Order: sequence, then structure tokens, then C-alpha cells
Amino acid sequence: MISTDINLAVQHLKENGIIGFPTETVYGLAGNAFDTEAIHKIFEVKKRPTFNPLIVHIKGIEDLKQVATEIPPMAHELANTFWPGPLTLLLKKQPYIPDLVTANLDTVAVRVPNHPVALSLLNQLDFPLVAPSANPFTNISPTRAEHVENYFGNQINMVLDGGECSAGIESTIIGFNNNKVVVYRLGALSLEEIEKVSGSVLLITKNDKKTIAPGMLLKHYAPKTDFIITQNIQEELDWYSGQKIGLLLFDSYLPYFEKKNQIVLSEESDLKIAARKLYNAMHKLDKMNLDLIIAERLPDYGLGISINDRLVRASKK
Ligand code: TXA
Ligand code: MG
Repeated sequence: MISTDINLAVQHLKENGIIGFPTETVYGLAGNAFDTEAIHKIFEVKKRPTFNPLIVHIKGIEDLKQVATEIPPMAHELANTFWPGPLTLLLKKQPYIPDLVTANLDTVAVRVPNHPVALSLLNQLDFPLVAPSANPFTNISPTRAEHVENYFGNQINMVLDGGECSAGIESTIIGFNNNKVVVYRLGALSLEEIEKVSGSVLLITKNDKKTIAPGMLLKHYAPKTDFIITQNIQEELDWYSGQKIGLLLFDSYLPYFEKKNQIVLSEESDLKIAARKLYNAMHKLDKMNLDLIIAERLPDYGLGISINDRLVRASKK
């Protein structure tokens, strides 16, 4: 059930329920971070393996000490600059955070979401919320209440509707190594923005097997339809001619190709808008009964880097 009733959401969460809730990045599947019953339900409904830890959402930086300990000065500086916002910090966890939340790691992922409905909800609760993105494991993340409803329907207590997510892709996840910032997941806060505060950052790549975040699985954010990413749309169209194809494009339509099978992310060439529209476009194309979705690689700077990361993961088999 989709509803805008925050009081009802509060009630469900206090009674160990789980709900879809809006954040500025994507919708989350939320439950009481201290209640293992609710947390188990989240893993079960998402079909998510329990080795993949969850992000804890708090209402403000003043609650950080409840969740984490040994907080480096740079973590404070970044949190002060970017919270509420799409930056998740990996920090040493407080011992009473359930191991199920952190997949037995000694770190906890934590952020303050920048969405009025999420903040209003958190302010009415005396516990933080764990919330993975509200999609089944490896599927496309939801950026609208309907996406969550379509995925989970009555398997969850409700979907709290907060409109379309403004950022549209997940938070950027960083950790600290000797006060140096390490980026574990690219996301809605660009590396350039972080570097303005922290100086240069270290990006963990998919090949650094040992240091990989448990959730940095290669296949992720994937539509059911076959999906490829390319720098040369025309070449792929020639190669796959005869197939029913949909195009996911950055800033302009391809002439001489059926317009209804094309989605342009931002005619203004604005990467922020492209990020906001990305997942809804993927959801739409996935519903069109196509043989193949061909996505255009975006410029490799700013949020373009994060969007390309998602497109590459969506294309993995
Ligand atoms: O924008 C977001 O971050 C959204 C909204 C709802 O806040 N949440 C989200 O959660 O994307 P999820 O569960 O889909 O992705 C969380 C990622 C996973 O890749 C997980 O492995 C990683 O965070 N993570 C969580 N705790 C971690 C930890 N202690 N160490 C390393 N990675 C961790
Ligand atoms: Mg996710």
C-alpha cells in the first residue's frame, strides 16, 4: 500500500514492521536498526544474502556517536559538509549494533538522508533505521513509490510516498585508512566534491578483491532485459539489427530510429538530471518487452563516472 501517512509509518516501524521509505538517493526498505526481527525480514524480502551489510540511517550528526566510535577528524569534517546528503561513512561500529546489520564486520555504514519525509520520520523515532535500497537483490533500484510497490506489494507493511528521488542513484560510500579517504562505492556525491574537502581520495576498484566492500558485486542494478553499454550506438545497432531494441541516451535522440523506443536522460546535458532520471528510465525500458537495451556511455567526469559505474554493472550477466 502506498501512503503519505507518516504517523502510520512510525507505528509500523515501532511494531517491528518494514516499510519502503523515500530518501534523496533511492527508496529504502526500512526497519528498526536495533530489532533483529525486522532486519531478518528485510533480508528475506529482498532475497539478499546476509553477508551483505546494511546502511544505518540517523536523523543528524548528533546521533553519530550512538552508532559509531573512533571517528576520525576527516569523517566529522565530511559529515559536517555533506550531511544530510548522499554520503555514507564506514566507521568502527558500536558493539551493540546487531551483527546482522554489519554482516559481522567491525565497521558500520551510516548516513543522514536529505529528504524531508525521511528526516521527519527519523525525528519521530527513538531508534535509527537500517535501509538497503528497496529492490530485490541485484535488480534496478527504486526512485518512485510505485517501483517499490511493484517489487514488494503486500510483502511489506507500506510504502511511504515522498515523490521522486531527487538524486536518483545511491549514496557514495567511503571509509578511512589512516585518515585518508577510501571510496568503496561511487554514487550521488561526486569524487570531485569530496576531494574539495579531503584532498585526493583512493578509489577501490573491482579488481581489488581483498578490499572490496561485500556489496560491490559486479552484477547489480540490472534490468531483466539484455543490457549493454557502449560509446558507439550506431555500431551496436548494426551488429544487433533485426532485434527489438531500446536506447538509453545521454542528451540527444538518434535520428531515423523509432522515438518511442528511446529515452534521453537530459537534453540539457546535465549529469545531475541524468542521474535523477536514470533508474526510472531503466524501469520503463525494462517493461517494453524489448530484446535488448543499448545504453550510451556518459562523459567520464563528475556524476558521469557514477552513472557509468551503474550502467556497467547493469550490463553484467
Ligand atoms: O543511497 C543509499 O545508500 C541507499 C539509501 C536507501 O540510503 N541505500 C543503499 O543500500 O544503497 P544498499 O544496501 O542497497 O547498499 C549498501 C551498500 C552495500 O553495497 C553494502 O555492501 C555496503 O553498502 N556496506 C554496508 N555496510 C558496510 C560495511 N560495514 N562495510 C562495507 N560495505 C558496507
Ligand atoms: Mg542496493
